[in-house]
Amino acid sequence: MPATAPEVHTDLVLEPRDVKFDWSRLPLHWIPDEPVATHTINVLHLLLPEGERWFTEVFKDALPLITDEQLREEVLGFIGQEAIHAEAHQEVLDHLLGQGLDPRPYVRQIAWLFQRILGEKPRLSPRKRRENVIERVAFVAAIEHFTAFLGNWALNSPGLDRADADPTMLDLLRWHGAEEVEHRSVAYDLLVHLDSGYGRRVRGMLVGGPLLVHLWVRGLRYLLAADPELRGTLRPSWRQAWEISRRGLLPDPVQSLRSGLRYLRPGYHPTQEGDSGQALAYLAASPAARAAAAR
Ligand SMILES: [Fe+2]
Ligand SMILES: [Fe+2]
Repeated sequence: MPATAPEVHTDLVLEPRDVKFDWSRLPLHWIPDEPVATHTINVLHLLLPEGERWFTEVFKDALPLITDEQLREEVLGFIGQEAIHAEAHQEVLDHLLGQGLDPRPYVRQIAWLFQRILGEKPRLSPRKRRENVIERVAFVAAIEHFTAFLGNWALNSPGLDRADADPTMLDLLRWHGAEEVEHRSVAYDLLVHLDSGYGRRVRGMLVGGPLLVHLWVRGLRYLLAADPELRGTLRPSWRQAWEISRRGLLPDPVQSLRSGLRYLRPGYHPTQEGDSGQALAYLAASPAARAAAAR
């Protein structure tokens, strides 16, 4: 079944914004009195530094296979943005360590997964190497569907403001979320450019979707156990996630699942999800992005 033709010939110009955040005043539970919501979102900081560095490696490996100049420019812009995202989340991890929550054992497992299991395989023939790169691009495209979904949620989450969440963390989440919405088509368009087959897209989601859920649940359990104030007294449950999402502090699990299923629709394209205008409006107002533009 053919995939939708990629809409790469737009005037999308992806600009890496070299943001800086000051975490020195970030409370351990940056959504006050909401440790489960705080740590569910904190799982992003556990996964993204290794995950987004891996995205940039996959896309660098894919560059020699690209024959479309506009798409090549978008892929280079994507690499620039994801590299900065990874470092921004890494700084939060360093701050957590300073607060007595050691994320390193979990992050070591994530590093092993991305570098050893999903990393570049040595000594492949040119044909197998191309196959391997495309397979990894399919995985990135599936995950990028979720990062755009989460980014769109972050941009439309007044519940976090009502709960008095830390404004610097909100800016990180919304700046990153806005860039995810901004570049949401790049991985998918790259995948279709390299292989327009429906099977490859489905395989990327069937591996990427369940793996992401699994890593998120494990990451949340890890953070709740390692939190020096909680010391394992809280155990997460799906019922609790549902209840917290109803208060607008987390994405709705059912909506998240539906979003994953939309990716499997034959006529899917990432531009059907999220709003580029809203993302660019946030980037024009984001304190961190404005400071970066002024430097
Ligand atoms: Fe990102
Ligand atoms: Fe992304």
